[in-house]
Amino acid sequence: MSDQTTPRKKIVLVGASGTLGRAVLTALRERGHEVVTASRKDADIALDITDPASVAELYRQVGRVDAVASAAGTVPWKRLGELAAEDVRDGFEGKVLSQVELVRQGLSSVAENGSFTLITGILAREPIRTGAVASLANGAVESFVRAAAIELPREQRINAVSPTVFEESLDAYGDFFPGFDPVPVRRAAAAYVRSIEGHQTGQIYRVE
Ligand SMILES: NC(=O)c1ccc[n+]([C@@H]2O[C@H](COP(=O)([O-])OP(=O)(O)OC[C@H]3O[C@@H](n4cnc5c(N)ncnc54)[C@H](OP(=O)(O)O)[C@@H]3O)[C@@H](O)[C@H]2O)c1
Repeated sequence: MSDQTTPRKKIVLVGASGTLGRAVLTALRERGHEVVTASRKDADIALDITDPASVAELYRQVGRVDAVASAAGTVPWKRLGELAAEDVRDGFEGKVLSQVELVRQGLSSVAENGSFTLITGILAREPIRTGAVASLANGAVESFVRAAAIELPREQRINAVSPTVFEESLDAYGDFFPGFDPVPVRRAAAAYVRSIEGHQTGQIYRVE
């Protein structure tokens, strides 16, 4: 049910077809918001966040928005000794540069008091084997969020959602997270609602 005290917002959601993105999409629509989805396939707007020209085209097509939310970002999973320089570059491009580009190019498209919400993850603070590039990327995005928060124009806000592994992803990733306490993905989705409808900025919302 929508909250009548919260004005309806126009929100771009990147990665709405993924495990996290589907939950965020449901939560935002339940709150009565208009959500424009963007990703490489099966979305309202075709977008490859690793391509700056594609990000520019997204903002050209979508016009003025109240919020940009990212639930995308890919990194390679390899032991340190197997990592090539190209893997590190791919991970940095896939999760860091891509999300920074959403912010950098989105400054003039996001309304006054609007927000950016980026995705990081628990590996920023709790390393696992094969996760060095993921840790690097998550930490970099979190540092960027804190820094960008004090420079955004027109009262815009920025936060990151930093979850542990989702119950819904245990089949895919569970073996990498022994002893970690998984969370239902809807808890991460609630952090997006908190970021978008709330008033905080520069926050890293840990979901664990
Ligand atoms: N799963 C977990 O347990 C977990 C826990 C903590 C953090 N996270 C983080 O949450 C994020 C999403 O994870 P997930 O498990 O939901 O992933 P997922 O199920 O693989 O979904 C990824 C989504 O991002 C889109 N996407 C991928 N690459 C893209 C690109 N270059 N440009 C635009 N869209 C792109 C995909 O759509 P297209 O393929 O159509 O582009 C899809 O909608 C990741 O950054 C992950 O590290 C996940």
